[in-house]
Amino acid sequence: DTAGSGERMKVVVTRNLGPDVMPLLQERKELDLVVWPEDRPCEREWFLQNVPGATGVIVMLSDKVNQELYEAAGPTLKIVSTMSVGYEHIDLQGAAQRNIRVGYTPDVLTDAVADISIMLALMAGRNVRETTELVARGDWPNTAWAPYGFVGPQLSANWVHPTRTAGFLGFGRISKATLARLVPFGFTDCVYTSNPSSTPNPAADAETARTYGLRSVRRVGLPELAAQSDVVFVLAPGGAATHHVVDAAFLRGMKSTAVLVNTARGTLVDSDALATALRERWIWGAGVDVVEGEPHVGREHPLVREPRCVVLPHIASATIETRLGMATTAAKNLLGALFGEAMPAEVQM
Ligand code: DGY
Repeated sequence: DTAGSGERMKVVVTRNLGPDVMPLLQERKELDLVVWPEDRPCEREWFLQNVPGATGVIVMLSDKVNQELYEAAGPTLKIVSTMSVGYEHIDLQGAAQRNIRVGYTPDVLTDAVADISIMLALMAGRNVRETTELVARGDWPNTAWAPYGFVGPQLSANWVHPTRTAGFLGFGRISKATLARLVPFGFTDCVYTSNPSSTPNPAADAETARTYGLRSVRRVGLPELAAQSDVVFVLAPGGAATHHVVDAAFLRGMKSTAVLVNTARGTLVDSDALATALRERWIWGAGVDVVEGEPHVGREHPLVREPRCVVLPHIASATIETRLGMATTAAKNLLGALFGEAMPAEVQM
């Protein structure tokens, strides 16, 4: 019975956004809300069955927004709002062809992800996985303090290494927030790679160096990024253009005392090559919040089997405050596009 729905606009939401954010949508009587009812990722079948005639959708990064979905939705679809800063799961070209606007959630998660990036750098360098597992197994009594017990490379500048170089694969908002956190650790230099289609800007680099009080900030190629960095932070967008950019050649080029941190997307790193690099000690350690093929990452996964690899299940943005901010932004992006109000963050296409 559609009689009661009048001219209401159908909006499909693939995850419940919680009691603080759902009211933003529920109070708009013009909306006919269809929300995936379960506390697990939305089933594709359900999404395809419910999306026909939708004017807007709010999706998660696990939902593929592709031709199939656009065709199922039909010509009514005006806005795709994702509760994520990454949008490689959305076919932007298809959206542009259909005049569909795309919203995402930058900025609100920058600090949370930068925090975890530093945490993973420390955990990977300081053998935190091996040592916490040892304690959990009850092995501390058999493992007395020893002069060189469990030593790892020091992240902060120190008497042996008075200079420290941070490396960033991708140099956007989260990289800069991570760099800011490294300044009090005594970092002196920064190297980074950027999208090859962007123009190098040495003046901006000099300005960044001044801002953070560093000796140098330099845009380099991948081999130099690998060779110079004491820690490499992978913080570039996912998608075909960055697939396996961290491969065996890159890892072989890194310092044996360096650590690799991936808080971007699993697809940027070749997991098998990283497992080999850790096993054969090409590098010291790794901390990854994302793994190619997630969430299907079981005990037998090559990275989970490596004691020098700290693996987290994609929780870098998982603070109470940040997730609330992301859900709110996702809701406001949708409302902005549907009611002619400002969208807090729209993907420029
Ligand atoms: C994003 O927003 O893209 C993150 O990966 C989710 O934490």
